[in-house]
Parts: sequence; C-alpha cells; structure tokens
Amino acid sequence: MSIVEKFMTMEYGPAPEDPREAVAWLDLHERRFGHFINGNWQAPAAGTYFETADPSTGEKLATVAQGSMEDVDRAVKAARAALPAWQALTPHARARYLYALARQVQKHSRWLAVLETLDNGKPIRESRDIDIPLVARHFYHHAGWAQLLDQEFPGYTACGVVGQIIPWNFPLLMLAWKIAPALATGNTVVLKPAEFTPLTALAFARICQEIALPPGVVNIVTGDGATGDALVKHPDVDKIAFTGSTEVGRAIRKATAQSHKKISLELGGKSPFIIFEDADLDSAVEGLVDGIWFNQGQVCCAGSRLLMQESIAEKLITKIQDRMNTLRIGPPLDKAIDIGAIVARVQLERIQRLVDQGVAEGATCWQPSIPVPSRGLYFPPTLLSNVHPSSVVAQQEIFGPVLAAMTFRTPREAVELANNTVYGLAACVWSESINVALHVAAQLKAGVVWVNCTNLFDAACGFGGYRESGFGREGGREGLMEYLEPTWFKQAPQIQATPLAIEQPPEPATDSSIPAIDRTVKLYIGGKQARPDSGYSMAVRAADGRLLGEAPLGNRKDIRNAVEAARKAESWGKATANNRAQVLYYIAENLSQRREEIAARLSAVVGKKQAQAEVSIGIERIFSYAARADKFDGAVHNPPFRNVALAVKEPIGTIGILCPADTPLLGFVSLVMAAICMGNTVIAIPSEKYPLITGDLCQVFETSDLPGGVVNIITGRTNELLKTLAEHDDIDAIWSFTDEAGAATAKALSIGNLKQVFSNEGRAIDWFDARQGEGRWFLDHAVQIKNIWIPYGE
Ligand code: NAI
Repeated sequence: MSIVEKFMTMEYGPAPEDPREAVAWLDLHERRFGHFINGNWQAPAAGTYFETADPSTGEKLATVAQGSMEDVDRAVKAARAALPAWQALTPHARARYLYALARQVQKHSRWLAVLETLDNGKPIRESRDIDIPLVARHFYHHAGWAQLLDQEFPGYTACGVVGQIIPWNFPLLMLAWKIAPALATGNTVVLKPAEFTPLTALAFARICQEIALPPGVVNIVTGDGATGDALVKHPDVDKIAFTGSTEVGRAIRKATAQSHKKISLELGGKSPFIIFEDADLDSAVEGLVDGIWFNQGQVCCAGSRLLMQESIAEKLITKIQDRMNTLRIGPPLDKAIDIGAIVARVQLERIQRLVDQGVAEGATCWQPSIPVPSRGLYFPPTLLSNVHPSSVVAQQEIFGPVLAAMTFRTPREAVELANNTVYGLAACVWSESINVALHVAAQLKAGVVWVNCTNLFDAACGFGGYRESGFGREGGREGLMEYLEPTWFKQAPQIQATPLAIEQPPEPATDSSIPAIDRTVKLYIGGKQARPDSGYSMAVRAADGRLLGEAPLGNRKDIRNAVEAARKAESWGKATANNRAQVLYYIAENLSQRREEIAARLSAVVGKKQAQAEVSIGIERIFSYAARADKFDGAVHNPPFRNVALAVKEPIGTIGILCPADTPLLGFVSLVMAAICMGNTVIAIPSEKYPLITGDLCQVFETSDLPGGVVNIITGRTNELLKTLAEHDDIDAIWSFTDEAGAATAKALSIGNLKQVFSNEGRAIDWFDARQGEGRWFLDHAVQIKNIWIPYGE
C-alpha cells in the first residue's frame, strides 16, 4: 500500500513492540525457572514443573517450578530467618531498599511491560502505560511509608512472615500492591504468583537480587492452587494476603479459622456503571471503554453492569455500539491494539459459557463486526442488553469483555439496582450534577466510587471491597494497617480457659431462709425489653454461689428479631457524628447517675474494687468514644492526576459483638460504644458470667435518646449465640472477644457472607488500661473506607 493510499484509508498499520529483551532473559534462564528462595534460584523439591504460554499465540514461553509443601516450607523458613535482621534495620534503611526497588522497576520498565504482555495477553499500551508505572509508583510511595513508619504508626509492629497469593489479571501490579506495604512495615514475604502468569514475579526476583535485598526478605514460590493452599496452611505464616476469586477467598477464611493468621481478601466484583441522563454521554462512553474493555474485562472492579437512565438508553446504546465498532482487537504487542488476548483457555470458555447462559435467560447479545484473530485466545467486546437484574450475567462475575446493560428511572432505583449484588468492590457514577453524583455515591455499597471517571488507582488511595468482595484495603494508610498489629496485642498472653461459674455453680453459701432472687432481666430488642422466644432462662450466680437472678436464654429467633431491629435502625449510621456524640455523652451521664447501684450489684460477681473500677472507667470510656465520634474522620487524597479522592469512613453495618466474660460492664461498653460511635448497629451478647448487666444497660439506654435498635442485647449461652450470629447472612461483622475457641468459631462460620471478624484471638486484654482497651485499633475495625474519586478542571 502506498503512502497516499494509507493516508486515504487512515488504517492503522501494525506497530509491534520488540520483545527481544524479554525473550533474551527467558533464554538466559534456558526458559526454565526454579523458585526464588533465600535470594537464590532453587529447583523444586519434587522436581515438578509446568508451562506458561503466550495466550495470543499459544506458544510456550517457559517452564516454571510447581511448588510443593516442601518448597513452601523452605521459603517460609527463609522468610522467618530473615525477619529479625530485616526488622532490626532502621526505617530509613528499609526505605532505601524500597526506593531502590522503585528505581529498578522504572529502569526495567519496558522489559517488564513486554514480559507482562507476553505472559498475560494484555495490550502493551496498558502494561507500558498503566501497570508498570503504577508498580513503580507503589514502591516509591511505600518507600515513604517505610521511612515514616515509627513516626506514623507508634505502638504498632509488623505481623511477621506474610504469605501472599495473587491472581493473573495484573500480575506485577498485584505483586507490588502486596510486597510494597509488607516490606515497608517490616515484614518478610513468601509470594505465590498465579499459575498463568508467573514470569514478571520471577523478573521481580531478579530485581531483588540486583538491589541486593537481604536474602529471604522476598521469596517467590511458583505453582497452582495447591501451592497456594500449602502457603495458607503453613503454621509459621503470620498473615495471608489474597487477591482472587470469592470462592478461594472463602476457602482461605475457612482454612485459617483455627489459626491466629491475620487475613485480607480482595475478591471479585460486579461493579455498576451508572449513567444519568444529565451525564456527558461521550465522556461516559469513553469511560465505559476503560471500565469494561480495559484488560479484556479481566478486572475485579470492571464496570460490568451498565445501568442507564431510561430516557437516554436508546441514544446511549447507539453511541456505545458506534464506539465498539472502532475497538481494535488483536496481537497485544501491537501498540495500537485496544483489546488483547484472554489469559487462558479455561477463562475463554468460562466467558462464552456465561454469555450463552445470559442469552438463554433472555439477554440480547451484540458484538461489533470487527476482525478478531483466528489464532490465539480472543473474545470480542460484547454488549448484552435486555438483561434481567436476576440473570446470571447481571449477578456473576464474568471476568471478560462483556457488558450487561439494564435501565432505571430514578436515582433511587439506580441505587437499588446497583446494590443488588453480593459484591461491593467498585462503582461508577456519571452525572453533571454534583448533588446527584455524591448523593448516589454515598449510598452505594462499594469500596471505591468513581464519579465521572473510572478505573483510577493510586498508591495513596485505599482499594478494597465491601461485602463479599472481601475485606481489608490495599494502598494508603489503611493498606499498611493490614500488615501491622498493636505491639501490646502481639505480646498479650492467651486467656486461660476457666470454666464459667454458671456452668459449674458452687453450692449456695447463703441462708436459705432469705429470698435469693432479686433480679430478673429481659432481652433488649429494638429499644424494648422483650421476653425470650424459648421461654427459658438461666440462673446467674455471685462469686460465692448465691443466686443473683435469672437471665433469658436467647435463641436463634431472638437473634433474628434483633438483626431485623438493627437493620431498621440503620439511619443511625447516617446521623451526624455530632448527633451520635451527644447520645453517647448522654449515656455516660445516665450511667454516672446510677453508678453506685450498678457497682453494688456488679460487685457480687467481680468484687467491689473491680466493680467500682468497671463503672468509673466505663463512664470514661463512653465519654472517650463520644469524643471520638466526630474526630475519627476521613481524608482527602491527592493522587497524581487532576482528581481528589475522598476517603470516607463508613460504618460496617450491623455487628454481632461477643463481650468478654470477666469484665461484664467495662468489656461491654468498650466494644459496643466503639461500634456505635461510628454509626454501626449492634447485637451484643453480654458476659455469660453476669448477663444481669443487661437490666442496668437498657435502663441507661432508654433514658439516653439512643434510638431503638441501635443496640440490641441478647443474653444466653455465648457459644450457641455466637454460632447463630456468625452464620447469619444479614450481619456484616463479628467482634468476638471471648476465648480462643470463640474466635475460631466466628471465623469458621462467617464464610457464608464473608463477614469481617475482629477478635482478641483468645488473648487477654486489659480493659482497664486505655492503651489496650480503647482507641484507634477498635475504631479501625468499626469502619470501612470508601474512596470517592472526583475529577476537577477540564
Ligand atoms: P483463583 O481465585 O482460583 O486464583 C487466584 C490465585 O489463588 C492464584 O494464584 C491461584 O493459584 C490461587 N489459588 C487457587 N486456589 C487456591 C487455594 N485453594 N488456596 C490458595 N490459593 C489458591 O482464580 P482463577 O481460578 O484464576 O479465576 C477464576 C475466577 O476468579 C475468574 O473468572 C474471576 O471471576 C475470578 N478472579 C477474580 C480476581 C480478582 O482480582 N478479584 C482475580 C482472578 C480471578
């Protein structure tokens, strides 16, 4: 074709990126890689390898070690051995290593981008301009946190050895999201890349060698799900950080339930892309291209559900189809390609299967008439319209270039549709009205909301999900917290399990001629005292065995009623922080007025001295949380583009709280006030030792303007109630502060809706000491951060 002809057609010619340097590196290793353990390449113990291929051609790229339990064990041992010296470094020294990693990533950026594209199939335009620059930015940003660690996180210490498991959609970027905060906080790492895309993690191992990172600080073990499973179950790993499917996330939660491993899960999504009639439609369509066709739609936060206001639906669909007709799908190393190859055949088949299912359920499938290569794993950009909100393609993560479109009429309907999913990772809102956009953003159950933009990420801004999209954040201050623990907590001794007096009551010591029962309490549900469904109660005895009163034996039905009441009281979370503070002050005031009588009653169980301390410190604690209610607020991030990201702290929702046994009043207020001051509603199970505290508490609450349903109290057998709470799918989190078995049960049974579990891990907490019994650690668990991104300027 002559230049003139080319000029006339304006067709793109091929513009392939040169892969030679990446290929030369593979050849240097004879296209065969062991694990990277203790600073060296090590052959797999079992001698097993698997292949990784270029999905755009099917050609084999390299053979990679399949990690066994033995390999994982070697890597964990190396990480453990490296830990003391790594932690003994000054923050500045660790910062220098992170800085060196960032510099080296930058220097090798083209090599890494090409390797990523070869192994994953994503367009070079994306790996070159998005993935790798974000990797470098992540290490730079965290070099800064490493430097400031002691100043910014006093009283916190590293978890220890962390196991990290990452997916194949952003291989090196996910590695950076995992390794940078772990190293910055003084942990050592064993990372397992995904089996489809191990190469850039191995390239990163080379970079670790180049900067002379101390051996064992970063170890890379390659392999499949079995290798990941071995890492998750290794007894000497202190924390697991995982990104991948919700299904595997659940398996990890379950597998770690009996351990003290801290976990963070970044799971799937089915994110809504909401376009209002007043949106700038052309920009919205461009946003949509990024939202669902970026990385072939294999993005956990892909805007895979298009929600269009009905009035513009027709016009918008035409615009989208016009734009789809201009997308270019083909060899990912071509610099002018928009859509590359799907990572693996199983994924391609999965996408096709889901699309077929959607069509069978009534969706209309439209694909542009653009050339799609016949060789390699390609799936054309696809638009499904007339999708029913309950259809599989509206509910399940497809993880492919497939958009499911639906309509809505009002903002309220948009919010309802958007939240009609088990996920809660991200959302986009397009409207030229800032009022509409922010009003809707506030109501969306999602960890990230992009207003008039999409798929923006930055190391300074936390990323992570609500609901079954997982828990924990990556990026920003909150991301670092996932790799830290309060120093006192890490060193706290385990509570020795002592049988509760209630289970083995000593003989009554009092004169039987004196009437013993002086107090009977009820449950407290929806602001009212309620009889238990079972009609049974349990005896409550003093330390000396005297019968003090009766407390109801709450059951499943009572918990159900309490959850309903708590849900109805959700407007508490929307009350102003000032309003919540006032109510808490009022609670403190009313408790203060009744301090003598409450202490006198409590002293029968815990002794006079402790009872008085519990009441007076309890009052102080409530005061303290009232004070914090309007101070523990969010932040405004300034990512390096023309955006602000509002990091808003939102309540988790409804929390089931298992109160500590030995401090019936102070334990209760320490946990419940932390939860409600941030706007959560609560179902609290008071100490089984002294559930009669419920009688005093509900009188205090009733006189304090606390809206009914914000705090519900169910007395009964802690273990039975814990089980019901943990299994209840309409509870968002469990705070278990009883014993070790309680913590394990809470974790194991909470996998249904992937509740967040916050627990004492069976360790003793000194509730009388404000440094342990109150503060940020609790508040951090009482909120989830939503980042709302807002562009500014033209
Ligand atoms: P996956 O969740 O199975 O794989 C992610 C990582 O977990 C890989 O490194 C894998 O080897 C590892 N893994 C698998 N089973 C494990 C186990 N039992 N214990 C520990 N680690 C384990 O995801 P997969 O099968 O590659 O993709 C399936 C679907 O998952 C996709 O279609 C997509 O819907 C979703 N997905 C979501 C991602 C996200 O970022 N949210 C990323 C990847 C997949």
